[in-house]
Amino acid sequence: MESQLDIIRAAALEETAAASDEAALEAVRLKYLGRSGSISALSEGMRGLSKDEKPRIGKLLNETREAVTAALAERKAGLVASADAKAFANVDVTMPGTASFRGTLHPITQLQDRAVGILRRMGFALADGPDVETEWHNFDALNTPVDHPARNEQDTFYLPDGRLLRTQTSPVQIRTMTALPPPVRIIAPGACYRRDEIDATHLSQFTQMEGLYVDEGVCLADLKGTLELFMRELFGPGVQFRWRPHFFPFTEPSFELDVRVAGTSGERWLEMAGCGMVDPAVFTAVNEKRGDHAYDPEKVSGFAFGFGLDRLAMNMAGVTDIRGFIESDQRFLRQF
Ligand code: DAH
Repeated sequence: MESQLDIIRAAALEETAAASDEAALEAVRLKYLGRSGSISALSEGMRGLSKDEKPRIGKLLNETREAVTAALAERKAGLVASADAKAFANVDVTMPGTASFRGTLHPITQLQDRAVGILRRMGFALADGPDVETEWHNFDALNTPVDHPARNEQDTFYLPDGRLLRTQTSPVQIRTMTALPPPVRIIAPGACYRRDEIDATHLSQFTQMEGLYVDEGVCLADLKGTLELFMRELFGPGVQFRWRPHFFPFTEPSFELDVRVAGTSGERWLEMAGCGMVDPAVFTAVNEKRGDHAYDPEKVSGFAFGFGLDRLAMNMAGVTDIRGFIESDQRFLRQF
């Protein structure tokens, strides 16, 4: 039995070493250590041994089983390692990977998000309106006379059905007030369109942000305080203001607000916003449409403002040609 064990052990180790893959190795394991394998069969044969022989042969049997088991495990580890090495043979893991470009928000979107964030904290809700507007919402209700130059076909894109691409976000004021009774306190960012000659500072599509606050007792001081706080939040506490009288058909009195900021091209005055107190004629047009007197000019008053985001984004980002914003040139956009 002893010599039998030696032979089996030698054969098992030899076959283990020769197994060229995991399947072959498993076959060797079954052949020797499986339930009907030859080492198991020898264990069965132990029963017929004498009392003196049993411990010695038992010990030998155990040693053989352990030696074969260890050899199988070692061979298996070796096979796995060489399979891995083969799979990675042509991969240079020290080579730099392909960097994927992480997109960012468009600079105008970034500015708009900031502006919306500031005004929402001040209690303004977001409002929305269509880009394709009626003449009534874009002009008539905003007290803009039929012969106003802005209504000219040279300035405004008209659709064949008489509607137009809104030239300003101000019609959202009208849509808000015809839908909701006072008080209203809204902002409305969005695209506007004008038939402008396209150059470094003009596009035919641009972005504005409208604001409207109507309630009992709203006065010019509220407008001033709101816009100055907004600008300080946007540019920092040191910003200077210049309020210039101006004219807009839908506000009376009207102003333009300039701010002095340290831009990329030195310190200068920036025209920031048009604004004013809502003209009673606007309330009258809204009431007519609503069919009630919710916006009674004797009871409520309000302020409105509107500003363009494109030029402001240009100034803040040091962009000198506005066309960069719409050309989708990655070399331009990756800077932001
Ligand atoms: N809609 C005006 C424009 O496009 C900007 C503006 C001025 C909006 C005064 C207002 C306002 O709400 O009160 O030039």
